[in-house]
Amino acid sequence: MKLAGKDLLGMKELSEEEIRYILYQAETMKYILKQNAKKTPHLQGKTMVTLFYENSTRTRMSFELASKYMSANAANITASGSSVNKGETLIDTAKTLDDMGTDIIVIRHQMSGAPHLIAKHVKASVINAGDGMNEHPTQSLLDLFTIKEKLGRLEGLKVAIVGDIAHSRVARSNIYALNKLGSTVAVGGPSTLLPKDIETMGVRAYKNVEEAITDADVVMCLRLQKERQQSGLLPSMREYAQFFGINEKRLALAKKDALVMHPGPVNRGVELCTEVMDLPRSVIDEQVTNGVAVRMAVLNILAKRSN
Ligand code: CP
Repeated sequence: MKLAGKDLLGMKELSEEEIRYILYQAETMKYILKQNAKKTPHLQGKTMVTLFYENSTRTRMSFELASKYMSANAANITASGSSVNKGETLIDTAKTLDDMGTDIIVIRHQMSGAPHLIAKHVKASVINAGDGMNEHPTQSLLDLFTIKEKLGRLEGLKVAIVGDIAHSRVARSNIYALNKLGSTVAVGGPSTLLPKDIETMGVRAYKNVEEAITDADVVMCLRLQKERQQSGLLPSMREYAQFFGINEKRLALAKKDALVMHPGPVNRGVELCTEVMDLPRSVIDEQVTNGVAVRMAVLNILAKRSN
């Protein structure tokens, strides 16, 4: 099987079959990751460049490690160290990388739609590593992989996504994906951080976290996107933590062994208290590990289409 398009731009564009295919491939990659010698020839001769206009630890490093484990040539560019600082446009930067023979461009950009824009102008496959408030598809894929690994299925689950829904590309990607895979999604958070039309995406929306997480199989907390907030949406971090942060008392409303997830980086003591982060059912560390496996799978699938 191949993906229909040359790029991975969002979960909105992927079919259920394509999502399941990537998750299936990621199981093999997870097996490879568990070996002492993590080196395979899958991407020999291929070149991946990461082009990050926003900060990242997990996404950028896991793409870089994934490509290296599979023997690709990997390079990275940040906006501050590139000719973007001399006024070069995004399209011209992407075309420059294309002309150098890059097979896969992984881009993170503050503008929603930036990966879609460059994908139209380059031969290389483009992977969206987070575009503004739009989507973060590989984060969603690793979240789905982690849920399936821990609970054995995705169908028939209640997944509560709580916190800063309005600014979260992780929430949007997961809502698209979980709806396609048969989970029910509830979102909860302060009314100022809930888009007015969020229920048109096929979710139940609550202006508190308690109702959203009641009887949930998975409690997915989101980072407060301080860099995207207008002022006046929240009284203070302390009050956010008090009224919306996930502590043990609130978590008790979810199912007994409900998974606790967070895409990271965590504002400790704001979205999640440390005691909850340290519970055995908190799978935040596994999410990070699975991010490498899922990105190996995505790189392999996209690289194969250009063979
Ligand atoms: N979850 C996530 O995208 O983390 P980074 O910003 O560290 O890549």
